Amino acid sequence: MSVDLSINPLRKGLIRERAAEPCIFVIFGGTGDLSRRKLLPALYHLHLSNLLPRGFAIVGYASSEMDDSGYREMAHQAISKSPTHVPTEGKTWDQFAESLYYVKRSEDTEHSLDGLKQRVNDLDAAIGTEGNCLFYLAIPPFRFAETAEGLGEVSLAGNNNTRGWRKLVVEKPLGEDLESAKALNRDMQRFFDEEQIYRIDHYLGKETVQNILVFRFANEFVEPLLNAEHVDNIQITVAETLGLEGRGGYYDSSGALRDIVQNHMLQMLSLICMNRPHSLDAGAVRDAKIELFRSIHPVEQSKVGDIALRGQYTSGSISGEDVPAYTQEKDVAPNSTTETFAVLKLFIDNPRWKGVPIYLRTGKRLAKRVTEIGITLKKPTEMFPRAGGSGQNVLALNIQPDEGISMRFDAKVPGLAYQVQPVRMDFKYGTAFATSVPEAYERLILDAILGDQSLFPRADATEATWAICDPILKAWLANQVPLYTYKPGSWGPREAMEFIERDGRRWRRL
Ligand code: BG6
Repeated sequence: MSVDLSINPLRKGLIRERAAEPCIFVIFGGTGDLSRRKLLPALYHLHLSNLLPRGFAIVGYASSEMDDSGYREMAHQAISKSPTHVPTEGKTWDQFAESLYYVKRSEDTEHSLDGLKQRVNDLDAAIGTEGNCLFYLAIPPFRFAETAEGLGEVSLAGNNNTRGWRKLVVEKPLGEDLESAKALNRDMQRFFDEEQIYRIDHYLGKETVQNILVFRFANEFVEPLLNAEHVDNIQITVAETLGLEGRGGYYDSSGALRDIVQNHMLQMLSLICMNRPHSLDAGAVRDAKIELFRSIHPVEQSKVGDIALRGQYTSGSISGEDVPAYTQEKDVAPNSTTETFAVLKLFIDNPRWKGVPIYLRTGKRLAKRVTEIGITLKKPTEMFPRAGGSGQNVLALNIQPDEGISMRFDAKVPGLAYQVQPVRMDFKYGTAFATSVPEAYERLILDAILGDQSLFPRADATEATWAICDPILKAWLANQVPLYTYKPGSWGPREAMEFIERDGRRWRRL
């Protein structure tokens, strides 16, 4: 990774500049997979970019037997292994290592957080962090509520704090349905105010997802097109070639709808379809999103089969490698009906989007890793003989891996006749900008430290997105509709093709 030290993107709202305040960054689950793969490397990159505050300490908190120097060694190994290959030697590393501390979770359940509190107080006094403390819960979600409560009991939580600021950072799954999401929000809000809670959806930290707003509102030609007058349909695809990556236990109780649709895909949908926020402040952006979520046409449980379809992969091979069927994966029930593929067709009940279908498609073990938002415009009245193509312009936002934006439009085929054929106009991040794209976690961690909530879903948004998914979940849990199968390396069940073909449309070929 090349680190550009010339820019200092500290901000408030999406754009205003501001410096990070001194603080202690506590990671619950500080030795776990998320910490090693994402959080510690992201923190180190922020350190390399001089974006962390001067008074700063990271406290790993977990159950492993370890001291500060053991934690520094573990972090060194984890960051050295991270795919960005940043140098982890010399003075810069030593400075970062000195900011790392470790507290072992006490076996004494009554007083398990006492040791952490003591360490936080000592560091606060030694480094001068002014009482500012952020708690990142990189632990299983069923422990979020009890951890918030535990922090409240030792007066480390936000709502009874009298000195500095306190923040709680949590990551999905935030609930397993609407009811449990509401309960979790309530439980966390007993100890932290909503302004102190940061819910991570890592897709919102992706550069290309943030560019959706810039593309729409910084360019005059885009907005006039984004409505029912011009758009025929929108397709959002999150396709993965990966399987479960050792997360069978979690995934089998989740499935594609909860894992990807309820959060990442609906967030992308809101960014592409919401009305223009009146400013770029967190509150305004979040208000525009919630308005959009609430205008998605509610689905009736008895009609789920008309607007949603689910699938599960069988055994087969992908990229020349044999892979087991989903039900033979480790930690998956052999008779599991959990979906690894999901398709939805949603409508938005407002004049702007009236009658425009928004198709969502996601799955594991598909033909290709690609995330794309494809906006297909209506067919213009034909004036010229066509040498190929449908005559429909397509605006495609390529979120990953080939980050960029492309436009398909018709051009005259060279020659003496007036024949038209589709061509593509491409913008690619890689060639347009010399700088590298930062990791989503870097942006989100920095924003949480800065206190900028723009990219973090608010409680009402998580509940609104669960409300959209709930009837579908219920119908699927009750096996009210078929569970189709598909081969690894394909684009999902055959029935998913028929699903869209019934509307006279096709999935975009990606
Ligand atoms: C996570 C899901 O939120 O997103 C995973 O839990 C999925 O199942 C991952 O693989 C995809 O993220 P990305 O950034 O690789 O597209």
